[in-house]
Amino acid sequence: MDKILVHGGPRLKGNVRVSGSKNSALPILAATLLTREPCIIHRVPDLSDVNFMQQILAKLGADVERASGVVQIRAEKIHTEAPYDIVRKMRASVCILGPLLGREKEATVSMPGGCVIGDRPIDLHLKGFEALGSAVRIQGGDVKLFASRLIGARINLRGKFGSTVLGTDNILMAAVLAEGTTVIDGAAEEPEVVDLANFLIKMGAKIEGAGTNRIVVEGVAELHGAEHTVIPDRIEAGTFLAAAALSGDDVTVTRLDPSHLTAVTDALLTAGHHLDIGSDSIRVRANGGGLPLELRTEPYPGFPTDMQAQFCALLATTKGVSTVTENVFPQRFMHLSEIKRMGAQVHLEGSTAIIRGIDQLSAAPVMASDLRASAALVLAGLQADGITEINRVYHIDRGYESIDDKLNNLGAQIERTKA
Ligand code: EPZ
Repeated sequence: MDKILVHGGPRLKGNVRVSGSKNSALPILAATLLTREPCIIHRVPDLSDVNFMQQILAKLGADVERASGVVQIRAEKIHTEAPYDIVRKMRASVCILGPLLGREKEATVSMPGGCVIGDRPIDLHLKGFEALGSAVRIQGGDVKLFASRLIGARINLRGKFGSTVLGTDNILMAAVLAEGTTVIDGAAEEPEVVDLANFLIKMGAKIEGAGTNRIVVEGVAELHGAEHTVIPDRIEAGTFLAAAALSGDDVTVTRLDPSHLTAVTDALLTAGHHLDIGSDSIRVRANGGGLPLELRTEPYPGFPTDMQAQFCALLATTKGVSTVTENVFPQRFMHLSEIKRMGAQVHLEGSTAIIRGIDQLSAAPVMASDLRASAALVLAGLQADGITEINRVYHIDRGYESIDDKLNNLGAQIERTKA
């Protein structure tokens, strides 16, 4: 198992390019199960989560080929039971339920287990499948779906914590081959949902309203193959913007879509950071430190929960008192105890972190608990006094393509060694 050593101090400078979006690539790869024809997906990031999805598709019977960011898939003949040994490694595997049910009218996928970022039920997904006419059984740790026919329905996917991203994706992928019209109310509005809908439309699906909280799907008899380029990863982009704000001199993050990052750039501008926002790039120039913030995470277009940890690291050395309230995954604060070990002045009140900024963190051995927490620890290490040792970095490889190389190209000093 690897660990990462982050040398604190170097100021970041230069350009960094954003990869394709993990949270878009995963459901789009799953959607290729909806047709027997070949699909070609471009700009698929080289991540362990993406590899898991490719393995699952291959185990289901699809031909999967990958070469330098391009994945070719042909799911001519498939079976409908996903392998537990791979599914258990990645929660997002749940998004193969929709395409399997849509195409084969049955699916067996292991129920997702616990998650360190908090309680993550799939009740809304199952409610949606039932509304389309599927029987739902939880048996032997598996979700079993089967239906003689799928019939369009009106479904509200809004839950206690707002909309559900993968829930919206799953119902969308089941409804495109259902008979008649499906109306999804309380739909997630994330850019990744829009990207999936655009891919499905290229396959011949009839979808309106993606990107709003009401999506209307007109079922069709079958879908054909298609070619698609995945959108840039807005969370990876946001992570580099936060890195530039906390320890950058002059950094330009390129190949991104600024319209996907408004909540993040608004927060950085409110904190007084200097941003030049271009058509597909954002430049951050140091201007002597930021102002404290009152942040609240919300479903898109609100401030993303997947950027919360990184901003906790930024605010740990921002003078004044900041508050960060987590409304999507209220328990998602595993990173706090680790940055506290680096001297951060932070405490939790319910699902709000109260952060009193200090001049500098001090390096320490820390433990990554999940994907975004590990990114936050790298950011904290960049500004700490000394060498921060981050253990369990396999988490970061799930969602960041060569983050250490990309940051080193900006002048950081990060090494990867065996633990
Ligand atoms: C997606 O997860 C992302 N994952 C997550 O990113 C992201 O944090 C999350 O959306 C929110 O933006 C992928 O796209 C692969 P949700 P998802 O269903 O779809 C509750 C990362 O770091 N809920 O939108 O699983 C749920 O518990 C990952 O890249 C129900 O109550 O999240 C949560 O509180 C981490 N019932 C809220 O809704 C349900 O049936 C939002 O979850 C489903 C969800």
